[in-house]
Amino acid sequence: MKVLITGKGGQLATELIKVFPNKFDVVALSSHELDIVDAESVERSIAAVKPAIVINAAAYTAVDKAEDNQQRAFDVNYLGCENLAHACKAAGCSLIHVSTDFVFDGKKATPYFVDDVPNPINVYGASKLRGERGITNVLEDAVVIRTAWVYSGTGNNFVKTMLSLMQNKPELSVICDQIGTPTWANGLAQFILHIASKYGEGERQSLVPKPVTYHWTDAGVASWYDFAVAIRDLGIEKGILKQAIPINPIPASQYPLPAERPSFSVLDKTETEGSTGFKTTHWRHQLDKMLDEYTEDSKLSEGKT
Ligand SMILES: NC(=O)c1ccc[n+]([C@@H]2O[C@H](COP(=O)([O-])OP(=O)(O)OC[C@H]3O[C@@H](n4cnc5c(N)ncnc54)[C@H](OP(=O)(O)O)[C@@H]3O)[C@@H](O)[C@H]2O)c1
Repeated sequence: MKVLITGKGGQLATELIKVFPNKFDVVALSSHELDIVDAESVERSIAAVKPAIVINAAAYTAVDKAEDNQQRAFDVNYLGCENLAHACKAAGCSLIHVSTDFVFDGKKATPYFVDDVPNPINVYGASKLRGERGITNVLEDAVVIRTAWVYSGTGNNFVKTMLSLMQNKPELSVICDQIGTPTWANGLAQFILHIASKYGEGERQSLVPKPVTYHWTDAGVASWYDFAVAIRDLGIEKGILKQAIPINPIPASQYPLPAERPSFSVLDKTETEGSTGFKTTHWRHQLDKMLDEYTEDSKLSEGKT
């Protein structure tokens, strides 16, 4: 089965390329090769590749910059999605799209269900919600996967930022009153592979009777502070960090950022696990595995230089 992945070079696309086995014919295109904002570029790429499934891993993900770059955020996260949906419809291929926990306002105190009413509180969240709707309005059998707090060995993310700060600072202060769930991009890619494989096995009709939205993160709950402490402790255990610097829990009000974040954005995965049969793994276990892989990759690249 031929699969076209957009956003090559991003965290998720990189893991998708790693986890999709050889039985899939994977074509991944970067923003320079396929700009999803450009409808002609989208149509041309889909016509040339002729995929059975398009996985949209492309997005404008700079949450704070989006506040001042609203137009660009909506161009990529909404128009880009609509372009993909129209092109997939015309070509008769399926679309798996990735969205965010930031479609919710964070006012709930228990995990968000798929059917909870979205109410984004920043530009990025609003653009991603428009993107979801842009897709499901056009494509009857689109799959939208909402995820959160994604990290991997590629690109910029909280884990890599923390490791770098912990190597260079005497102490850190980290927000303790925003609660969510960290997600290793590799685990998310495994989930997407599972969904894509169902298409291949001809279960598409029963699995996806209408546009379907899944919630997918790793299991468990954490504040950014909890996450930072786990990164420090595992970093020490694995020899990535030399010393355990103090980490102070602070409220978000003491660390103002351009974009407001939901104070609680844990996604409920029970429905997704039940309907797909794919189980989540606790975020701390996933972080442990990511750091092992990251250490191995660092050793390999040091050996090369
Ligand atoms: N990262 C998170 O914490 C997080 C949380 C919740 C949901 N998500 C969602 O998860 C998905 C994957 O995120 P990620 O962390 O892998 O993002 P990422 O690392 O920022 O990668 C995004 C990719 O999209 C590409 N891109 C940007 N504009 C494009 C365009 N116009 N046409 C084609 N490609 C374009 C970027 O290419 P360039 O570098 O060349 O611009 C980059 O390769 C996204 O839908 C994101 O919204 C992420």
